[in-house]
Amino acid sequence: YASNAAAREEPFLIRKARLEDLPMIIAINRATLPENYPEWFWRDHLEKWGDAFFVAEVEGRIVGYVMSRVEYGAPTFTKGLIVKKGHIVSIAVLEGYRRRGIGTALMKAALKALKERYGCKEVYLEVRVSNEPAIRLYEKLGFKKVRVIPMYYLDGEDAYLMAREL
Ligand code: ACO
Ligand code: ZN
Repeated sequence: YASNAAAREEPFLIRKARLEDLPMIIAINRATLPENYPEWFWRDHLEKWGDAFFVAEVEGRIVGYVMSRVEYGAPTFTKGLIVKKGHIVSIAVLEGYRRRGIGTALMKAALKALKERYGCKEVYLEVRVSNEPAIRLYEKLGFKKVRVIPMYYLDGEDAYLMAREL
């Protein structure tokens, strides 16, 4: 008989990341993205902006994360000299768990925390110009391509800087 894996997807849970989650978060990052960071970098973000650092769990297992930070910089959408900005540093979902809304839910949790907990007025991120899945996800959430950053990545690929108001 026919069986459809998509019809048996387990529910997911979004919660704040904890220190003991870092090994799994780092493992997911290494398995899914060429942009990897030392352990202290993840811990530093968790300590400083942990209220905007989330994981997704399926059956008690971490399958995705979003890590953010808060910065000050020139506003993209408003006038003035300086604005508090959220920066989505890294987001990933394990391959077998994609296309079920986990990336969207992680992003929504981060955007809400950056706005409500940290008082950010806008949020930005960089993404490979070839990363269609991620670009589509960000566009669905209201991000716009602001500009191209040439040769942003170590392999020479350009990035889009994408941003939206909060
Ligand atoms: N092709 C086309 N559109 C896609 C795809 C795809 N493969 N994946 C997601 N999308 C778009 C769709 O519009 C989708 O909505 P739909 O399923 O209703 O059509 C929408 O994004 C939302 O998808 P989600 O299910 O919420 O996202 P998912 O849980 O699959 O995670 C993510 C998306 C995080 C980009 C995932 O593909 C991933 O981990 N990729 C590898 C790591 C990565 O590229 N991370 C982003 C790097 S940039 C940065 O970190 C700032
Ligand atoms: Zn960045």
